[in-house]
Amino acid sequence: MKLLNVKNLRISFKTSKSELLAIDGISFEVNKGEILGIVGETGSGKTITSLSIMRLLPGNAKVSGEILFNNKNLLDLSEKEMDEIRGKKISMIFQEPMTAFDPLYTIGAQFSEVLFKHERIRKEEIKRRSVEMLKLVGIPEAEKRFDQYPHEYSGGMIQRAMIALALLTNPELVIADEPTTGLDVTIQMQVLNLMKRIQRTSNLSMIFITHDLGVISKMADRIIVLYLGKILETGNVKDVIFSPFHPYTQGLVSSIPTLSTSRTGKLHSIPGNVPSLSEIKKGCRFYSRCSQRMEICKEKSPTLFEVSSGHYVACWAVEKNRNLVKMDEQ
Ligand SMILES: Nc1ncnc2c1ncn2[C@@H]1O[C@H](COP(=O)(O)OP(=O)(O)OP(=O)(O)O)[C@@H](O)[C@H]1O
Ligand SMILES: [Mg+2]
Repeated sequence: MKLLNVKNLRISFKTSKSELLAIDGISFEVNKGEILGIVGETGSGKTITSLSIMRLLPGNAKVSGEILFNNKNLLDLSEKEMDEIRGKKISMIFQEPMTAFDPLYTIGAQFSEVLFKHERIRKEEIKRRSVEMLKLVGIPEAEKRFDQYPHEYSGGMIQRAMIALALLTNPELVIADEPTTGLDVTIQMQVLNLMKRIQRTSNLSMIFITHDLGVISKMADRIIVLYLGKILETGNVKDVIFSPFHPYTQGLVSSIPTLSTSRTGKLHSIPGNVPSLSEIKKGCRFYSRCSQRMEICKEKSPTLFEVSSGHYVACWAVEKNRNLVKMDEQ
């Protein structure tokens, strides 16, 4: 069952010179109890997509399309209605944990504020629920930790506290934006395992954002590969990672040593850099870096088509090769 259904989302930013189209008509859904992974290099639009769902984009952003949450378009809600959903039914784990907490207040005070705002429960109950949540995410001496300030927490601990804060109100959807950036590998694995365990036991829906395909292959059920505001490939995580069709996804996959099927031992990387949004013209957004580009790619942006059940790719070269195969078969 669909919990979130995003249709033809477009996000543009007004700058002094022009208007930049940062998300160019993407559609996706998140079902109840599933983890949708969004993977893409820096600047692909992962964070602004999440902020648009939370309705937290800055004033110079223009958003169009539909963001249906439980069949209600979040873009049509009043600020007051949205305020009741944000932090309660949809919560977000931010890329920078330190920005999620105010250094001037204790962790406990900040947990209490969120619980009080959404649930209006008694002080003792607030503390009980908060401490229970801190324990659930593996914070030792949770009672004591409740009264401490953010700077008294280590990096791994503050990340856990942020996860606890996001789960505090029993949300239906959690958006985790690079939740383990900056943590060392062992702690990263612990935090990821913890998130997955909580998600599975409470049948939570989650959007999990990262630039790391290795991480996403462990976390997600389905994934979206985002490049400069366009979905290039999407499907079940196994299909996309073990049988990628798009030249970009193939490049990403072969750059991960543990996932790579090539046994040369060499790390591949995709040549060139992601162009800036202002350099984008018509045609496929991956054109400038693509090893399989054709004339049509410069002129016309490809749309997603289904290559196998639930697995979609937007690429003229893939489409052409498949048509050739079909013609051979005839
Ligand atoms: N307030 C803004 N004004 C103008 N452009 C913006 C604004 N916020 C974001 N952008 C642009 O939108 C694009 C997408 O940014 P976003 O932060 O979503 O990328 P990201 O995929 O989250 O990258 P990263 O992996 O670095 O976190 C970028 O080109 C960025 O410069
Ligand atoms: Mg980001």
